[in-house]
Amino acid sequence: MSSKSSRRAFISATVASFAWLITGGRAAATTPAISAGAPCKVKGKERTVDGVTFVCRNAKGKLVWRRKPGEATTKVITVRVLESAELELGKTKVVNAPAPNGGTTGVVLTRTSAGITALRVNCTHQGFPVGRVGAVLECELHGSRFNPETGAVINGPAARPLTRYDASETNGGIYVTVTSA
Ligand code: FES
Repeated sequence: MSSKSSRRAFISATVASFAWLITGGRAAATTPAISAGAPCKVKGKERTVDGVTFVCRNAKGKLVWRRKPGEATTKVITVRVLESAELELGKTKVVNAPAPNGGTTGVVLTRTSAGITALRVNCTHQGFPVGRVGAVLECELHGSRFNPETGAVINGPAARPLTRYDASETNGGIYVTVTSA
């Protein structure tokens, strides 16, 4: 190989590596966009994909899918929050789970003979965290008490049950699914 052609090969390999680095970096940093799927053909038609509703609209003479205005997007996170062995029958533990809209949310886990119950830790009266006291979940702030197996109110002032999350157990771990809405 002549020095001219080897220099050309070196330059093209360098350019290719550089391009790979740029596109690879961008791909890793980008969250995949939610797509409405098949092409938009009928103006006004709606389509829901992964809980997001799109409407077929005319944009500069082309029919395109756009998110439906005002549509609330529900985000869902399922996360392993505890090892199964760490929660005995009849016991309660409070763990933190990532919240879909950022930050974390406290979750009260209780193992019953029917499985795991996962409840939002915040009292439905004014949001103070509840804790296990004897056989109930109690809010120290104003004294509301809840059933740890269902989240139902035992006594107020809270009037609504604790928010319940889906919980499952697999591969030796406890998983909680938290939604933003
Ligand atoms: S905040 Fe829990 S009883 Fe008031």
